[in-house]
Amino acid sequence: MAKKTFYITTPIYYPSDKLHIGHSYTTVAADAMARFKRLTGCRVFFLTGTDEHGQKIERRAQAAGKDPQQFVDEIVIWIKKLWQTLDISYDDFIRTTEPRHQKAVQKIVQKFYEQGDIYKAKYEGWYCTPCEAFWTERQLQEGCCPDCQRPVELVAEESYFFKMSKYVDRLVEHLEKHPDFIQPTARKNEMINNFIKPGLEDLCISRTTFRWGIPVPFDPDHVIYVWLDALTNYITALGYMSDDDHLFQTFWPANVQLIGKEIVRFHTIYWPIFLMALGLELPEKVFGHGWLLLDDGKMSKSKGNVIDPEVLVERYGSDAVRYFLLREIPFGADGHFSEEALVQRLNFDLANDLGNLLNRTLAMLKKYFGGKIPVPGTAAAMDEELKKAATELPAKLESLMDQLQFSNALAEIWKFIARANKYIDETMPWALAKKQEEERLRTVMYNLLESIRIISVLLLPFMPQTPARIWRQLGMAEQPEIQTWDSILSFGQLPANLQTVPGEVLFPRLELTGEGGAPVRQATKKDKPAQGKKNPAAGEKAVTEEGLISIDEFARLDLRVAEITAAEAVSGADKLLKLQVDVGGDRRQVVAGIAKHYRPEELVGKRIVFVANLKPAKLRGVLSEGMLLAASDDEGSLVLVTPEAPIKPGSRVK
Ligand code: MSP
Repeated sequence: MAKKTFYITTPIYYPSDKLHIGHSYTTVAADAMARFKRLTGCRVFFLTGTDEHGQKIERRAQAAGKDPQQFVDEIVIWIKKLWQTLDISYDDFIRTTEPRHQKAVQKIVQKFYEQGDIYKAKYEGWYCTPCEAFWTERQLQEGCCPDCQRPVELVAEESYFFKMSKYVDRLVEHLEKHPDFIQPTARKNEMINNFIKPGLEDLCISRTTFRWGIPVPFDPDHVIYVWLDALTNYITALGYMSDDDHLFQTFWPANVQLIGKEIVRFHTIYWPIFLMALGLELPEKVFGHGWLLLDDGKMSKSKGNVIDPEVLVERYGSDAVRYFLLREIPFGADGHFSEEALVQRLNFDLANDLGNLLNRTLAMLKKYFGGKIPVPGTAAAMDEELKKAATELPAKLESLMDQLQFSNALAEIWKFIARANKYIDETMPWALAKKQEEERLRTVMYNLLESIRIISVLLLPFMPQTPARIWRQLGMAEQPEIQTWDSILSFGQLPANLQTVPGEVLFPRLELTGEGGAPVRQATKKDKPAQGKKNPAAGEKAVTEEGLISIDEFARLDLRVAEITAAEAVSGADKLLKLQVDVGGDRRQVVAGIAKHYRPEELVGKRIVFVANLKPAKLRGVLSEGMLLAASDDEGSLVLVTPEAPIKPGSRVK
């Protein structure tokens, strides 16, 4: 049977500046989708590229003292390198300055002209060069571009116009018949109310006051408007109007076109109308995602508040950056970007939940079975529940991914990771070992390893490098047949007797305490002490070469006895509890990762040891003003450290 095809596109990027993390957002999302569809057996075509013409690029090149082609060539090399750094698996990268594109665009414009869709007239109106968009007086907001709020320029020149009015009724009919064409739905309503209902104006599709564009074939004094040129990339890349259009025949219409919300108008009004004029089918779905915002609003070069994706990847690795982008913000909504939030996700989700599941399991396997995957015995009811959760996951993910719900898809995987961690606590392999319940121990260990394998395969689309690192440790790197989608549809495909190789920590915990807020890896048991590393807060050596601290260093900790006065769960975080503590009259709120070990009601009244001079931080958005001390072992037990006899809250611990 022929494979199902799947065509997904990103917008093509302006190579006018280096791209920031906001730009990478669209591409990472498209990549996760493309990888997911490949994993589930589709024949995928994933397109990205660069939008290289227009007044903006011409001006930037002039300002840089470069010829526009030379100017864009240099940035395009950098963009391709960035996509490599972020593991973007595109199938084609189209540049609008390539002859294959330019020739096809001229044929398209010629066809419009010949069928009477284009007429010549004088354009007088406003133009936003950064957005390359025409605006009427009525559409301006306080005299500025309604999309980017920057000043607009008055333009008066002879131009060709496209008769949008000829197709608008058909567009409205299409929107009515295909409620999923524009997503999320709110964006569809915005298009209808703001642009279609007030009366869609004909679009100016040529310019004469600058030269950096594709010449209009029947009037070469004009260059083609950059948005008409750019939008057609989605079909010219497939060979439309060329001698070899087999890709076009195979993949058009696109299944999903991903774009940011500010360019929804171009993709859901002009683009479908151009396609109708060409007699082509419309894409199945155009999804306008939200923006990544910083505290002072949208990232932009002119504001100087951009976050460089290369720096983030250098600090945290590409998989962690991808995970954060896809998990943190529900796709479609705007979301805040902060490095603190990224580090928290990395520490909680990746280091604790995923990393610990692997480490704990492999450490126990080594101890009980010399690291060899055992043959499972008879399953108990608790095992069936774990297996059911595992086998239900693939279908859940397919449905969520079809709705582009990346964050929810990852949340489902993490629910299962939490389930597997809980299974360790419930089955207590260390107790089974002690009681010499060998068959049960084999079953439990096998089920954990198989769960990890299933998780690793499901992570492939989102974090392309992590699965191979897990497979090496599970001893299954050379077993491609158990790294596939089909192999996770039923539980139990992991062969017994593979020799596991516990290795590197997948995601070392980090702290944002380095110079300039850079992250510093937190010491773990396996780490050597950071050799002679400076503690920037102290401005002096925190540890000696031997990894020892001085008594003065220890005295910097303000350890106190505190009494827990209230405790409750933190919604959406199944490991955290929010506690109120009394530190001798000083009342503090603390978020502690102990929910798996203590119920809120059993904590109230307990006296504990408390770090009172820890810098406050937010955990899952909840303020935490200190830390309580707890002891934990390799096997997952955790107990609070308490004074061995009653002593009043606030007492110093030293
Ligand atoms: N060249 C046009 C697209 C033409 S498509 C035929 C363009 N290019 S762009 O480089 O300015 O933007 C590319 C993509 O990056 C857009 O989808 C845009 O929404 C996205 N982003 C740019 N800044 C962003 C954020 N801060 N947050 C999320 N995405 C944003 O538009």
